Amino acid sequence: MKLIVLGASAGGGFPQWNCNCRNCAGVRDGSVRAKPRTQSSICVAADDSPDWALLNASPDILQQIKATPALQPARALRDTGIGGVLLVDGQIDHATGLFMLREQKTPMALWCTDPVHEDLSTGNPVLRVLEHYCGVDRQHIPLDGTPFRMPKVPGIEFSALPLSSKAAPYSPHREASVAGDNVGVTITDLNSGRKLFYAPGLGARTPEVHARLLAADCVMVDGTFWTDDEMIAAGLSTRTARDIGHLPQSGPDGMMEWLDELPRHVRKILIHINNTNPILDEASAERAELTRRGIEVAEDGWLIHI
Ligand code: MLT
Ligand code: MN
Ligand code: ZN
Repeated sequence: MKLIVLGASAGGGFPQWNCNCRNCAGVRDGSVRAKPRTQSSICVAADDSPDWALLNASPDILQQIKATPALQPARALRDTGIGGVLLVDGQIDHATGLFMLREQKTPMALWCTDPVHEDLSTGNPVLRVLEHYCGVDRQHIPLDGTPFRMPKVPGIEFSALPLSSKAAPYSPHREASVAGDNVGVTITDLNSGRKLFYAPGLGARTPEVHARLLAADCVMVDGTFWTDDEMIAAGLSTRTARDIGHLPQSGPDGMMEWLDELPRHVRKILIHINNTNPILDEASAERAELTRRGIEVAEDGWLIHI
């Protein structure tokens, strides 16, 4: 299976348009060694296939598609390499790109959970708006882990796991999460049997998530914040990382401790990095600590073979 990182940043991107934190200001003026990143999305396909699954539809999707020639196989006057779209939640950084995919003649094949479908039909009614353009061929993501496939994405199978994280701020269940507000996805290559576990929003350690991580050959997980109080310490928010559904990397019970428990052969990659996170600075002590532990920090444009 092949995977392209379309966008490795969390909501807001890096640098964020209105932010002058150390990282954002530093990447603009060159004083911090870091790479800009667009907002959260990946695509995956079987090795020999030109047809990709898009996981999350970022506000930056048009820029991401332009930067990724594989997503335009040009087999017809109007064509796309995107055979299906899967949303892991209904957050702005994962759903806004749906608007940009409206110019299709056939309904958009879209996999999402029931709570996300409801949020994207009410609080942020993008799916209702799209009815006036291409329309949406909505497919259920089963929450019990039942495997499912995308008919236009051969050779790949998906299986979702409900996660403890947060619905979008416009959702009526933002503060009282329901199962399916956020999912992680195991993506299996049916030919090789190899597995990726993808979870850009992951707020708590559970035995179920641990089992998914252990079963994967590559894990690509929540890299939003380094410390739980990162946004508070930066003077940008009053809420902790855990408050908004993201497990920080450092500290007791953090993501690093967790990834350390995985076997050495498992490739460990952080994605959905917030612009305040010191790991974006390639010269930082925090990045060096990740490197020492064999944990990578995703960059836009990475092509990964799993
Ligand atoms: C989150 O995952 O918390 C987000 O990146 C929020 C957003 O899209 O604004
Ligand atoms: Mn997000
Ligand atoms: Zn910033």
